[in-house]
Amino acid sequence: MPPSGIADALHRLIPRAAPATPSHAPNHSTNFLVSPNLGEVLVGPDELKRRVRELAEAVTADYAGKDLLLIGVLKGAIFFLADFMRELDLDCEVDFMAISSYGSSTRSSGVVRILKDLDAAIEGRHVLIVEDIVDSGLTLQYLLRNLAGRKPESLEVCALLLKPSNSQVPLTPRYVGFEIPDRFVVGYGLDHAERYRALPYVAALDE
Ligand code: IMP
Ligand code: MG
Repeated sequence: MPPSGIADALHRLIPRAAPATPSHAPNHSTNFLVSPNLGEVLVGPDELKRRVRELAEAVTADYAGKDLLLIGVLKGAIFFLADFMRELDLDCEVDFMAISSYGSSTRSSGVVRILKDLDAAIEGRHVLIVEDIVDSGLTLQYLLRNLAGRKPESLEVCALLLKPSNSQVPLTPRYVGFEIPDRFVVGYGLDHAERYRALPYVAALDE
């Protein structure tokens, strides 16, 4: 992928999400979203919306005239992916992969397993992996190696969240929504033991 001015500028300006003052998650009228373990909101709904649009503008510029295939990593990325794809001004396709994550623990085991593979071959395609969060980077490293072996024309990553302090592998996604501190977060697709995905913001989980 040739460097694009917009993507590089975006990369230099990745917002660092951190609450200015400790605050509790906004109240929801739906009781199932209320939990005493929910800590402060690190990225609110408006910031999410704005940043997803910015990422989509950069990707639209970079892939103009190209045939783009988005690969969503189930399940966490689906909320981000759905919003992101609708902001793209491109004709693109989407496919999904499911890989094993932490189960109900909050630390990466480093053991990655494909639970569901892509429906179609990606040889010769421009592929953009859409991820919810890059923590240790082990999952992404595995995915990149696996998909690179299938000979795509290009292979890049768009991750909504990045925990830079926890990286165990030297890779930085080309597109990053927010850098966050090394805390376990939930919401906007991210779960803890399958809960909290539907929250419209990203919040820390206090355990
Ligand atoms: P990594 O292999 O450590 O980079 O972890 C990547 C995967 O772990 C992500 O795709 C998520 O599914 C999950 N994950 C990592 N950190 C968090 C978190 O703070 N909240 C929820 N899921 C997380
Ligand atoms: Mg997960």
